[in-house]
Amino acid sequence: MNFNVGVIKGDGIGPEIVTEAMKVLDKVAEKFGHVFSYEQLLMGGASIDVHGIPLTDETIAKAKASDAVLMGSIGGNTSTSPWYKLEPSKRPEAGLLKIRKELNLFANLRPAYLYEELKGACPLREDIIGDGFDMMIMRELTGGLYFGERSTGMENGVMTAHDNLTYTEEEIRRIAIRGFDIARKRRKKVTSVDKANVLDSSRLWRKVVEEVAKDYPDVSYEHMLVDNCAMQLVRDPKQFDVILTENMFGDILSDEAAMVTGSLGMLSSASLNETKFGLYEPSHGSAPDIAGQDIANPIATILSAAMMLRFSFDLDEEADAVEAAVKQVLKEGYRTADIDSEGMTRVGCSQMGDLIAERI
Ligand code: IPM
Ligand code: MG
Repeated sequence: MNFNVGVIKGDGIGPEIVTEAMKVLDKVAEKFGHVFSYEQLLMGGASIDVHGIPLTDETIAKAKASDAVLMGSIGGNTSTSPWYKLEPSKRPEAGLLKIRKELNLFANLRPAYLYEELKGACPLREDIIGDGFDMMIMRELTGGLYFGERSTGMENGVMTAHDNLTYTEEEIRRIAIRGFDIARKRRKKVTSVDKANVLDSSRLWRKVVEEVAKDYPDVSYEHMLVDNCAMQLVRDPKQFDVILTENMFGDILSDEAAMVTGSLGMLSSASLNETKFGLYEPSHGSAPDIAGQDIANPIATILSAAMMLRFSFDLDEEADAVEAAVKQVLKEGYRTADIDSEGMTRVGCSQMGDLIAERI
């Protein structure tokens, strides 16, 4: 089959890691008889350098016209890069938020999985790790504090800032449905995370999740307050299957979940709308300090490409092949610097891409 993939290489290590993911996709195409046509799109700092803004209407239109978008990472060093001298709405991250909103990518899936081979990198005690953990953070991505009205100004002689947190029942319902759907294909447990002891938006969240849960009698669910969830993630991460939560809590908890796996460089993500379209990117950032040195770990981006095959293109067998190739390379002892340990074979970004592609 033929697929059009919009490619946002982005900033920092973005171009290197996306190049490796494309290498793996090309191998999939060859092996399984597909054609992936790529169109390079500019976003973030790379777009600011050319157009003065982090996301142009042309890029949005081209992204919309593609079957899916594969992305590296955007942004630079916030204290030294000239991009951060621009007003907030013109900085690299504003492009990312805008594309999420414009493409209605409300469902953000962030798997956090402990690889057997990388157990040594997990910062938790062995008795807590047990036989590992495997969770899916389901983060609402186009509402809440990120997209509410904001302002800063003088009020009654005092400098005052506002960030507005709003959710409608429909926004909550559609992400909850996605969460329960995903749980059904996994271990059938949803933990809905909120701050219902304080926030109105969380009390509505809880009510709507309970309504949605009625349609999924085969899926068990519980409510958990966000502060307790942050604690439980390090106390007993095995208890979680799907964590369903709003935008800001999901931002924070997904970094924490990534950290407990010990290998941020391994974690993929998918941002989906109501259709088959999705934007796929690694969960980690652009790591400008190591850019261009061929030492970045491309695995999170390669696994994001596997998610694209699975969710946007319905190519499950091909996605399985990519995931199996990653596991195989780890089993053979190949490691990039971020996941390296005693007795393993250290490889660079490009060699890691080659090794994985060879095993497809
Ligand atoms: C993420 C990032 C973004 C977010 C930033 C770069 C705006 O932290 O994707 O988690 O907060 O959503
Ligand atoms: Mg984040």
